[in-house]
Amino acid sequence: MAREEEQFERIPTKICPSSDEAAKTVAAEIATLIRERAESGKNVVLGLATGSTPVPVYRELVRLHKEEGLSFRNVITFNLDEYFGLNDDHPESYHHFMWERLFKHVDIPKDNVHVPSGTVDRSAVYEYCQSYEQAIEEAGGLDYQILGIGRTGHIGFNEPGSTRDSLTRLVTLDALTRLDAARDFLGEANVPLYAITMGVGTILKARKLVLMAWGQSKAGVVRDAVEGVPDENLPASLLQGHPDVRFFIDPTASEELIRIRLPWLVGPVDWTPRLIRKAILWLSDTVKKPILKLQESDYNENGLGELLIDSGPAYDLNIKVFNQTQHTITGWPGGKPNADDSNRPERAKPFPKRVLVLGSEPHEDILCMGGTVHRLANQGSEVTLAYLTSGNLAVPDNLTKQTLALMAELEEEMDFKKGDGLSLGQFAEVILKSFEDVGDSDQDSDAVRRIKSFVRRNEARDAAKILKIDRDQQTFLDLPFYEKGRYRNFFPADEDVDTLSALLESVKPHQVYVSGGLADPGSVSGVCYRVFQRAMKRVSGEGWVKDCRIWSYRGVGQEWPLNEIDMAVPLSPGELASKIEASFQYRSQRSQFPFRASSHREIWQETDDINRSTAEAYDAVGMAEYEAIEAFKEISIAALQGA
Ligand code: F6R
Repeated sequence: MAREEEQFERIPTKICPSSDEAAKTVAAEIATLIRERAESGKNVVLGLATGSTPVPVYRELVRLHKEEGLSFRNVITFNLDEYFGLNDDHPESYHHFMWERLFKHVDIPKDNVHVPSGTVDRSAVYEYCQSYEQAIEEAGGLDYQILGIGRTGHIGFNEPGSTRDSLTRLVTLDALTRLDAARDFLGEANVPLYAITMGVGTILKARKLVLMAWGQSKAGVVRDAVEGVPDENLPASLLQGHPDVRFFIDPTASEELIRIRLPWLVGPVDWTPRLIRKAILWLSDTVKKPILKLQESDYNENGLGELLIDSGPAYDLNIKVFNQTQHTITGWPGGKPNADDSNRPERAKPFPKRVLVLGSEPHEDILCMGGTVHRLANQGSEVTLAYLTSGNLAVPDNLTKQTLALMAELEEEMDFKKGDGLSLGQFAEVILKSFEDVGDSDQDSDAVRRIKSFVRRNEARDAAKILKIDRDQQTFLDLPFYEKGRYRNFFPADEDVDTLSALLESVKPHQVYVSGGLADPGSVSGVCYRVFQRAMKRVSGEGWVKDCRIWSYRGVGQEWPLNEIDMAVPLSPGELASKIEASFQYRSQRSQFPFRASSHREIWQETDDINRSTAEAYDAVGMAEYEAIEAFKEISIAALQGA
């Protein structure tokens, strides 16, 4: 029976401490099933998914095979889907993905592996899909199906509109799904339009279903699937009612569930100061009144009667939360020298502070906190902007080719010679030629990736210059996990931690600004955050760490909700304008499809909206009215290391 706090949940949902732990639990269940069947001489039929979500499960299964002798000889697998039009060896094909992540590392017989083919002739697709269904039946049906969930609510590639009874078929990918895949395919134009997928009906026939979801970007869709009514416009919600379905999610993917978002509505709570603030800011938003105008009746009518009994009256609660919220606002993110700092988010001393701003890619710092960076530097702090990865995977070819073509032209004009090796222009010509030899979505050569890194470095320098940050305050770490990897294949290694710890030790910062704590742990910013956690653990014995504060910023396209903000830095209209001007410098990060601008918002537009709406949110609860605000949450060193 569901516990009281889960009363709104229509699918049993386990919130695990981390994606790695969830993945270990799922892998252990699969391993037990495989072993039990092997003991009685039977096969087990697994339904498998691709994407970044199941990667830690496959990693653990490979470990169990290599270190604990788990054999896959009795395992038969059926994958959910495949992009239509891709060869098996295309780097983004799900065939390639499955062989690279799992099959080639274990002893599964090749004939036991089934991944829908992306190269069936269009005229034979219907029969092919029927034969896929039949093969599943003949194998005895799916025993254990693992699933991820797309932001459209898709399972497999069953996009909104898929019916409950749908079977394996050719489908058109949703625009949002293609946008989400654009990064992997190095451009949306390269993302296939169609896919072959098992149907919702095929999935529902599996005996056991386990859906996993990590990271904040999945929180909304997880909530809709778990708490909403079953709806074909959100195919994952159709899993409700299956006799053996469970969701395994990490804490960030759980954030929108009622038991996390509004815990006071589903049972007794421990009214900590942070929870009180969360409840009252929510109340203010719900009844559309500023904090100081909230009345006892507002509390009572919105499920907060218990809070009044516990810590009321309303007048006292209002004042307390008003002051707390007011005290998050500061124009001095590095601390205000010679000022009383008892009600300021940052301490006055030491001053000036050594500040280290970490960006997972070379645009994150300015987009997310350009106004704060400008203030810190302007107010005398010693600011270092460090970029953990080069970001070269996100640079479109056309921009790189333009750069090279320019180099080639320069050569003609300037007769540049580099020793007795290739001239600059000849070098450019060779690389330009190499673009013709590889397909659009093939892996870039090392030289091309290097050039793309330079493109991003220069953008980051141009952006910082607008905010009056010198280039010698910027450092590009080019962490190896990124240089050696590709999307969906990033994993932090010791060498990454070595590089970042060395930087921390050389700067000995009083403040570190970092993002990625809530991101999918397999994403670039999620991996960067884990590298940071490990680096901080490594330097934890150093004296300066005791005097160091960690400020977390949310990452591109996102912002902390009001109740999570510990420091809010207001920007004047002029400061916001400079930040937006700086954001224009990230040419490589602009939408590559300006003709579809209505559906593709540019990052500078998002940045502008986000900073303005944070200011509006402060205004709405009764604070002063600012043009824009950048926001930060403090993470204690203990919380960072305990994680
Ligand atoms: C993949 C699949 C998809 C993904 C979903 C989430 O085989 O069927 O439904 O599970 O798109 O993708 P990630 O895990 O990359 O967020």
